[in-house]
Amino acid sequence: MKSYLMAASAAALMAMTPLAAAQAQAARPTPAEAKAFVDKAEAELEALSVYTAKAAWVRATYITEDTQWLEAKAVGEEKALATKLAMEAARYDGVAVDPVTARKLMLLKLYLVLPAPAREGAAAELAALESGLDSTYSTGKFDYKGRQITLNDAEDILRESRDPAELKAVWEGWRTVSPPMRADYAQLVALANEGSKGLGYSDTGALWRAKYDMAPDAFAAETDRVWAQVEPFYKNLHCYVRAKLNDKYGDGVQPRTGPIRADLLGNMWAQSWGNIYDIVAPARVRSSYDLDQLLVKANYDPTKMVKTGEAFYSSLGFAPLPQTFWERSQITRPQDREVVCHASAWNLDGKDDIRIKMCTKVNGEDFYTVHHELGHNYYQRAYGDQPYLFKGGANDGFHEAIGDFAGLSALTPTYLQQIGLLDQAPGAEEDIPFLLKMALDKIAFLPFGLLVDKWRWEVFSGEVTPAEYNDAWWTLRTRYQGIVPPGPRPADAFDPGAKYHVPGNTPYMRYFLAHIYQFQFHRAACAQAGWDGPLHRCSVYDEAEMGRRFNAMMEMGQSKPWPDALEAFTGERQTDASAIADYFAPLNTWLTAQNKGEQCGW
Ligand code: ASP
Ligand code: SER
Ligand code: ZN
Repeated sequence: MKSYLMAASAAALMAMTPLAAAQAQAARPTPAEAKAFVDKAEAELEALSVYTAKAAWVRATYITEDTQWLEAKAVGEEKALATKLAMEAARYDGVAVDPVTARKLMLLKLYLVLPAPAREGAAAELAALESGLDSTYSTGKFDYKGRQITLNDAEDILRESRDPAELKAVWEGWRTVSPPMRADYAQLVALANEGSKGLGYSDTGALWRAKYDMAPDAFAAETDRVWAQVEPFYKNLHCYVRAKLNDKYGDGVQPRTGPIRADLLGNMWAQSWGNIYDIVAPARVRSSYDLDQLLVKANYDPTKMVKTGEAFYSSLGFAPLPQTFWERSQITRPQDREVVCHASAWNLDGKDDIRIKMCTKVNGEDFYTVHHELGHNYYQRAYGDQPYLFKGGANDGFHEAIGDFAGLSALTPTYLQQIGLLDQAPGAEEDIPFLLKMALDKIAFLPFGLLVDKWRWEVFSGEVTPAEYNDAWWTLRTRYQGIVPPGPRPADAFDPGAKYHVPGNTPYMRYFLAHIYQFQFHRAACAQAGWDGPLHRCSVYDEAEMGRRFNAMMEMGQSKPWPDALEAFTGERQTDASAIADYFAPLNTWLTAQNKGEQCGW
């Protein structure tokens, strides 16, 4: 490809007059100029980034009209600058630069999640839409039994209630928050697409798919390939869970065949099902503990959960969190103001100013999320010495997988006993219950992780129009997850908007990838630690040598293509679901036996 381009331009030079040829030659930038451009661009973006991050933090932890305005102004300026630099970067296409400069030029073009059109005012308009959508979602409330309830309250009901009428009402109630976002979302899509085209991408979905060190189409094919590896296992789990729901609720609520009702799975988006373990638990083997209860019994509070997470990473050799982490993080929901409760991890200065922002509750789900968020922080700090454009995950799936990897160990009974939450680790008779719990979260998630961006790719490409947003969403939800809404959806529904990452504009394929990578990390780490038992019992707590090698991968940031980073720790270069298959093998066999006589699929 490259030599084809050079040959073409050489031919063009030959056809010119000598003077024109000399001018063209002079206009072609040199490698040194390209490097100087990149250095300057990098410095300018870095200088602006702290300001943007602080404005965004203040808005996310104190949502008002004014903080939205401040964030939109800062983000708009950064967007305008990054868009201008990305367009300038195209001038150096085909210049024979060194590999570091070449990678930075590429990353500059991929810098923004939503690039703005270059015309005056467009960046500011797009930034205001983004801030507004995220704020509308985060402050969303609806009336339930005469009370205005938040998403947090609604999630508690979805987690705990076993009354189908109540579940349906709350599930539908939360989805009254999103229809007002639809027009703004459509406008945001139009602007981001115009910006992406300006950078040479067919649409914003193609830009997102270009972030994986391969052609956008090749990446889409990769995700399908990996899904095909895990799909039979998902169908097996779906079949088993559906039968249990049918046993519990009867044919009138959950038929024995066909899709599952989305509100019965313990989670607002039916994306992880661990909360309904009580319904699907195997008849004969009881689980001897419940993490929710262990935490309450041991008097954990939110700060203690975060300290426990920190201690896990410390045991792997990571330096303690800085004092400022404790002073500046938002660990619980403030009572006096509106905030973005959706958990996230931040680095405000590219160095040590790392923080989490959560509305932590004392339960197993948030115990896990704490480990997840801290993984982001330790990654950010590990690559803190990289140049600005290399500060990032090897790809965004890596960023999500670091903390998930830690969580895989932190959820084992082996570890819960080590830190005194469990008196005694159960024997092998509890392997199936444990694996089932893990599968309810990890395997159930996979089709959801895949389809959120399948939907957005269709939206960005124009294949799905605003009028078709909701139907297209449910087509994918049914095709991949095998779920249906609890009742007909109203004509104005905008259900994708009721999932944070859509109004929050966070690409989602990263979570699908992370659910694969984390098992690859886990398998490699357990081998390094010399573990020879079953993978699901392995905890790498205290494995400092393994931790040192893991940190070596983390320190690379995005300085190299992601397969290099994967190889550095695992020796593998491919996204590969065989580690998931290894981890869950006994459960898959068990599920197949349980499903005998059932009509699986939907
Ligand atoms: N930030 C996390 C997710 O969106 C938090 C969560 O687990 O809800 O990646
Ligand atoms: N944290 C992500 C979410 O909330 C993936 O689990 O969807
Ligand atoms: Zn995350």
